[in-house]
Amino acid sequence: MRVTKEKLKDLIVSKLHRAGLTVDHAEGVADVLVHADARGVHSHGAMRVEYYAERIAKGGINNNPEFTFEKTGPCSAVFDGDNGAGHVAAKLAMDEAIKMAKENGIAVVGVRRIGHSGALSYFVQQAVNEDLIGISVCQSDPMVVPFGGAEPYYGTNPIAFAAPGQDGEHITFDMATTVQAWGKILHARSKNEPIPDTWAVDSNGEQTTDPFKVNALLPIAGPKGYGLMMMVDVLSGILLGLPFGNKVSSMYHDLTEHRNLGQLHIVINPAFFTGLGTFKESIAQTMQDLNNIKPAPGYKQVSYPGQRSAERERAYERDGIEIVDHIYEYLTSDVVHNNAYDNKSPFAK
Ligand code: NAI
Repeated sequence: MRVTKEKLKDLIVSKLHRAGLTVDHAEGVADVLVHADARGVHSHGAMRVEYYAERIAKGGINNNPEFTFEKTGPCSAVFDGDNGAGHVAAKLAMDEAIKMAKENGIAVVGVRRIGHSGALSYFVQQAVNEDLIGISVCQSDPMVVPFGGAEPYYGTNPIAFAAPGQDGEHITFDMATTVQAWGKILHARSKNEPIPDTWAVDSNGEQTTDPFKVNALLPIAGPKGYGLMMMVDVLSGILLGLPFGNKVSSMYHDLTEHRNLGQLHIVINPAFFTGLGTFKESIAQTMQDLNNIKPAPGYKQVSYPGQRSAERERAYERDGIEIVDHIYEYLTSDVVHNNAYDNKSPFAK
């Protein structure tokens, strides 16, 4: 099913509002989800609406949060989300970080006590739209083994980075620090297919090809990915005085509970370094250089990070966004949620 961005946003807003969010906050969440679907990151788009609707309806997302913003220094601040929708709090916190970086060259803004905030590319692109560099990292629920471990400690702790080029083009890099998302394991289970042995481990910590034996995911590049997810947890959890490591709340454990997650935005103003014009020119040059690299056998062209998503976004703008039929049916139905997510261990069979 193909729908326009506007129609998809309306459907999501209506569902989240019926679940209990204010229209204003429902619009804030919908913007991030539509952004993800439009870039082809469907794992963080409309697919998540029913889960959010259930959590909102059960009180696990605060419908009426009192956001507070405290500047703790010329370049640092803490935004408290009062466990409201993470998408809304993270967006407002980035607005503040942008103002501070415009004035002082750099801003580091912690976002504490929030719910899940979705695809981080949304927030770093807020910075890019203002000719600034954006970096954002956040905590996620524990489902990854530390290198050499047999039980999960960290989440899929994502890292996003974006820098402005010329003519509205930009580099946007946004990834989980695991080899694969949990959704890919579920997909293999649904098709009863083996998975590559580099994705996940069983309950003994041994790499497995059986999707039904998966007990935890593996970090990207062994100890290096493990180090990156540790860094994310320190910056977005420990630094903000929040639960960290395997004490981070679970996405599905109890949907009545607030999640108390953390996120950190860093915004850098190129005008305070090499100068904005030179910076954007060099980013545009590096994008072009990458496209001109001789492709390896089997590849048509080297893409710069975010290029394929930007192309998808342009195509979707023209032809509408592809939404899986059963998700469209849910969005257009009268059902708020089907009680499908509460107390479901992500590793349940
Ligand atoms: P992915 O694996 O689809 O892409 C990772 C990065 O690699 C992207 O920047 C993409 O542009 C780049 N890339 C992919 N193929 C490429 C190619 N052929 N050439 C050049 N660059 C290429 O992303 P992943 O790891 O599945 O993450 C998906 C989303 O999930 C992200 O938006 C992330 O922020 C979000 N996420 C959010 C979490 C949360 O708790 N809020 C937790 C984990 C992930």
